[in-house]
Amino acid sequence: MTSNSIDSLLHEERRFPPSPDFTEGSVASPALYEQAKADRLAFWADRAREQLHWHTPFTQTLDWSNPPFAKWFADGTLNVAYNCLDRHVLAGNGDRVAIHWEGEPGDTRTLTYAELTSEVSKAANALAALGIGQGDRVAIYLPVIPEAVIAMLAVARLGAVHSVVFGGFSAESLRSRIDDASAKLVITADGGWRKGKVFPLKPAVDAALADNASTVEHVLVVRRGENDVQWNERDLWWHEVVSSASAEHEAEAFEAENPLFILYTSGTTGKPKGILHTSGGYLTQASFTHKNVFDLHPEKDVYWCTADVGWITGHSYVVYGPLANGATQVLYEGTPDTPHPGRWWEIIEKYGVTIFYTAPTAIRSFMKLGREIPDGFDLSSIRVLGSVGEPINPEAWIWYRDVIGAGKAPIVDTWWQTETGAIMISALPGITTLKPGSAQVPIPGIKIDILGEDGTRVDPPQGGLLVVSEPWPSMLRGIWGDPERFADTYWSRFSTPEAYKYFAGDGAHVDADGDIWLLGRVDDVMNVSGHRLSTTEIESALVSHPIVAEAAVVGAADEQTGQAVVAFVILRSEHADAQTPDEASTLLRAHVASAIGAIARPRQVFVVTELPKTRSGKIMRRLLQDVAEGREVGDTTTLADTAVMQIISDKLK
Ligand code: WT7
Repeated sequence: MTSNSIDSLLHEERRFPPSPDFTEGSVASPALYEQAKADRLAFWADRAREQLHWHTPFTQTLDWSNPPFAKWFADGTLNVAYNCLDRHVLAGNGDRVAIHWEGEPGDTRTLTYAELTSEVSKAANALAALGIGQGDRVAIYLPVIPEAVIAMLAVARLGAVHSVVFGGFSAESLRSRIDDASAKLVITADGGWRKGKVFPLKPAVDAALADNASTVEHVLVVRRGENDVQWNERDLWWHEVVSSASAEHEAEAFEAENPLFILYTSGTTGKPKGILHTSGGYLTQASFTHKNVFDLHPEKDVYWCTADVGWITGHSYVVYGPLANGATQVLYEGTPDTPHPGRWWEIIEKYGVTIFYTAPTAIRSFMKLGREIPDGFDLSSIRVLGSVGEPINPEAWIWYRDVIGAGKAPIVDTWWQTETGAIMISALPGITTLKPGSAQVPIPGIKIDILGEDGTRVDPPQGGLLVVSEPWPSMLRGIWGDPERFADTYWSRFSTPEAYKYFAGDGAHVDADGDIWLLGRVDDVMNVSGHRLSTTEIESALVSHPIVAEAAVVGAADEQTGQAVVAFVILRSEHADAQTPDEASTLLRAHVASAIGAIARPRQVFVVTELPKTRSGKIMRRLLQDVAEGREVGDTTTLADTAVMQIISDKLK
């Protein structure tokens, strides 16, 4: 975020107290804060018992004897899929709709809890027959179709570990994730629908496994796009092996700390981190927050979170949180503007969506198109709105509330991360007086502090670095295969032997009321449309191209996407004259998209002859960011060659 937008955020004076009507029926109550304050661990133990079915009840809440490695509810056992499925059927809610799925071309599928339980049981039997058991890793590379949810739950049911790879990632990114986790099985589809066309997925899996040298034994393929696919010996059709499997599968109980999934996210180095989440603590916090932050009344609400299952939001607030709560939800395969720009609003009208959770970047893009489009649909069912992924600017907040929320729906701006597993900071609807632009307060049971560089707490209205000061149930348990990187990345900055503190990588302010305002990342991580990208990872992709000698990448403020990827490259001398800068830029943008995925494609690639470096050789990205954002270039005194920024700025004018 630019310093201008921070200033305007902090001068935001509008306040929206909850309406008495809403408060009267709200799930959350102020007592939650009091209980959590009185005894944090007892509070979480109560939530774990209240939210979940335990095959063996736990007696121990938190084991923090070996920080930063936490164990929650460690002597309890449960089955995550049983908690999301069977128990709702046994409680008499088998006929409740779990998923209203809408394909992009307009085809639909409805699955009740009873049907979803049978589908997951069949899939679990099929996977077990392929040799998948407790602890095995399964990569999932699917569009947003019911089979994505079924596959995740089937893996969880067996006590195995899924690693969902977003369908927009490249073959290369998929392979590195398969290798890192030594996955035995890949579940994919022939293709899925996006922007009115079938985008093939299976060819990327074929390319990823082309050398026949990976740990993958089988590829299970869902038929969705009906595009032609090449067939290999290791391939199996989902509809053949799953449909013929038995719909009876007894869910075995596993320890609360049994790994549930790995999800890769970008860090400050070139290599994505495999964030590890486990079962009991994760499901406790995901389901508790889903219920209280969104005011979920499962018997009457229709919930819709627009995230792809390939991101953490899709894991916690499409799959695990809502299903553990027995919610009815909408699942949509495609893009918001296909076949027309009102598609999302049409879906809300069609299913009577009451709770809607999306990202600021989407809200801003609808704002740009004008309110006439949503005004053409009946959105009167909406009663709670959520935002996630980046700070929501007050203008977008007000538009969201007025146009989508009929001027009255509470908006919850939820701050959290892949690593935190579940929501950490958010207003509670019906309780909190809302402030547009602020994520506001830690949820009950979560301890957040804003610290200065020296580790002492800063006073409002100063800014500082956001830390989580006490372990929490859905916290990451590690980075897959790399305990040292886990300790270094998150716990080395502010921990003392007496107090371990998790460093989130975000800057934040607290105001005089104690409300938290997020100010963006303080590390080499960009936030593009609510997705996390690493500058270093994109730089490595650029220098892997034969024409590139050196590259520097920055996140530049972008009205639409929050930040946008802007790259500066020096070409190898033998190539420098062989093509125009425009040709080189086109080529390199496409190269990054194929190396990492389309989300990483730079908005701009500038060909330059020098990069600004300190005397010790470190690239000064801050100065490049000034150029990319069209600002006056800041302090250049630490540069080895002070003329270089003038040359770059002149060139790009
Ligand atoms: C980073 C985490 C959590 C799901 C989506 C992204 C930023 C996330 C907010 C918010 C301000 C936010 C932070 C965070 N972020 N939500 N409500 N306000 N910033 O998950 O890819 O793990 O990224 O997203 O910078 O560190 P992620």
